Amino acid sequence: MNRKYRKTIIAGNWKMHKTACETRTFAESLKHALPRTKRCSIVICVPFTNIPIAIKTLKDCRVAIAAQNMHWEESGAYTGEISAQMLVELGVKYVLIGHSERREYFAETDAIVNKKIHAALAAGLHPILCVGETEAQRELNLTDAHLNYQVQAALSGVSSEQIKNITIAYEPIWAIGTGKTATPEQAGEACATIRSILRSLYGAKLARQTTIQYGGSMNPENAKNLLSQSDVDGGLIGGASLKPENFLDIIFTANEYEESET
Ligand code: PGA
Repeated sequence: MNRKYRKTIIAGNWKMHKTACETRTFAESLKHALPRTKRCSIVICVPFTNIPIAIKTLKDCRVAIAAQNMHWEESGAYTGEISAQMLVELGVKYVLIGHSERREYFAETDAIVNKKIHAALAAGLHPILCVGETEAQRELNLTDAHLNYQVQAALSGVSSEQIKNITIAYEPIWAIGTGKTATPEQAGEACATIRSILRSLYGAKLARQTTIQYGGSMNPENAKNLLSQSDVDGGLIGGASLKPENFLDIIFTANEYEESET
C-alpha cells in the first residue's frame, strides 16, 4: 500500500449470496466496528435486490454500496437487466465491471466491458474494473501480455479525467474461490504491471493515484502480507467477506498497516 498517493479500498463481493434480511444483519454488525476502520474506504458489492436495505441500514456510515454488474445502455428492451441510472438513483456509488465470473459465465467480452465502463462513468458511478489471467496464461508466461491487453481494451476511450474515478482489481482467475492465493510477490508484481500500463496510458501522476486491489482468496490470514506490497492498495474479497468478523478482520489489518506506515 502507499497511503501517500492513493486510497486503500477494501471491497466485499458477495456474489449471489445473502437475502435482504441477512444483509440488514450484516450491515448492523459492520456499523458498530466502523470507528476502528477510519483509514480505509469500505465498499460492499451486494446483489441488486439487497441494495435498498444495505443503503438504508448503512445510511450516513462510511460504507459505500456497490452493484456487481449493470447494462451499458441507459434503457431499452433488455429483459432482466439494470441500468447505471437505476443504480445511481438508489444511492449506489461503485459497480464491479468485468468480473471474471461475468466474463466466463455470461460471455462478457472486452468490448462489452469497455461499453459498461463508459456507461458507468457517464452516470457518475465509480467502476471497479476486474482483470486477471488464467492459470494456463500464467504458466505460459503470458500474464503481463494478458493484463496489457485487458486493461487497454477496457479503458479504450477513457480520458485522464475519467481514470481518476476508476479502481482496478487484479484477480488471477486461478485464485478466485479456490483457496489458492497468489503469493504476495505475484500479486505485487501483477499490480505493478497494471500500474505501469496506466503510466503509459495516462502518465506517472495518474498511475500513482489509482487504487489497484488484489482479489482471489484473500482472507484474514494472508491479507497482511498481500497488502504489504507497495502496489497492492486494497482487496476485492469474495468468500471471506460473507462473515462480518472475517471481513472486518481484513479491514482492521489494512487500517493498522496504514498507521504503522505513517
Ligand atoms: P474470493 O473471490 O475471495 O472468494 O476468491 C474474489 C472475487 O471473486 O472477487
